[in-house]
Amino acid sequence: MDLELAGKVVLITGGSDGLGAALVRTLAAEGARVAFCARDADRLNRLAAEVAPTAAAGAEFLPVPADVTRLADLERFVEQAVGRWGRIDGLVNNAGRSAAGPFASHTDEVWDADLQLKVHSTVRLTRLALPHLRAAGGGSVINTLAIAAKTPGAGSTPTSVSRAAGLALTKALSKELGPDGIRVNAVLIGLLESGQWDRRAAERGIGVDELYAELSRGSDIPLGRVGRAQDFADLAAFLLSPRAGYLTGVGINLDGGLSPAP
Ligand SMILES: NC(=O)c1ccc[n+]([C@@H]2O[C@H](COP(=O)([O-])OP(=O)(O)OC[C@H]3O[C@@H](n4cnc5c(N)ncnc54)[C@H](OP(=O)(O)O)[C@@H]3O)[C@@H](O)[C@H]2O)c1
Repeated sequence: MDLELAGKVVLITGGSDGLGAALVRTLAAEGARVAFCARDADRLNRLAAEVAPTAAAGAEFLPVPADVTRLADLERFVEQAVGRWGRIDGLVNNAGRSAAGPFASHTDEVWDADLQLKVHSTVRLTRLALPHLRAAGGGSVINTLAIAAKTPGAGSTPTSVSRAAGLALTKALSKELGPDGIRVNAVLIGLLESGQWDRRAAERGIGVDELYAELSRGSDIPLGRVGRAQDFADLAAFLLSPRAGYLTGVGINLDGGLSPAP
């Protein structure tokens, strides 16, 4: 199936590692024009250099060092992409990190930081991209969330609350922006291989494969394994593509069957 992504302009936050980086690689193979941001400029540039030789004809890359919790950085991210390509067809609000634990231990600062990273950044960047998505005659927005958005558990704040907000935002915007041809969907992650688990394994002094086996056993994932970053990239590429043109307002669990919620 041709995803018809060649030449499309897509912005990805958290694009230097894990799920975001897998999506950059996949869109490169599809010939898209991809702007991707994260805070560490070296890692962004390394990814751009790695992807370029294997990219499809017409693919282009714009790594932009930016912290999504800073409005000025988000403005610069959009300005650079639009300055280079003159349009935006897709936006993936993906930057984030896990923040969970006993409710009583979370100070106002912890809550504020999580809401800034996961909710306010998505609101701001989507608002900044909106005029360009409208000018392009429509497009696709994806919010990367977690299965806790639908099924919050004990010890899951503040992440579950931020992710539930992201799901509500997804649904509300899908209804509001549908008439403009702008589709808004969410991908709710269970457990997928990514940089955050590499770092967790290193902290514990174990191999990452050992950690994945442990996570898989401990979570009782019906498909019997932790997912791969490529599983996310394949789904996100489809949601970004015109081939998903009648799909909006959904929160898709990408979790090997883990979530009890459909
Ligand atoms: N993998 C999972 O099992 C899982 C489960 C549930 C939800 N998720 C969600 O999926 C998304 C991707 O996670 P991942 O597993 O791919 O994580 P990851 O491997 O740690 O990658 C996170 C990416 O986000 C960037 N980032 C972090 N904070 C940022 C900020 N303030 N501004 C800009 N970029 C920032 C990181 O680069 P810098 O550090 O250089 O900024 C990196 O590129 C996150 O929203 C995460 O919460 C993942």
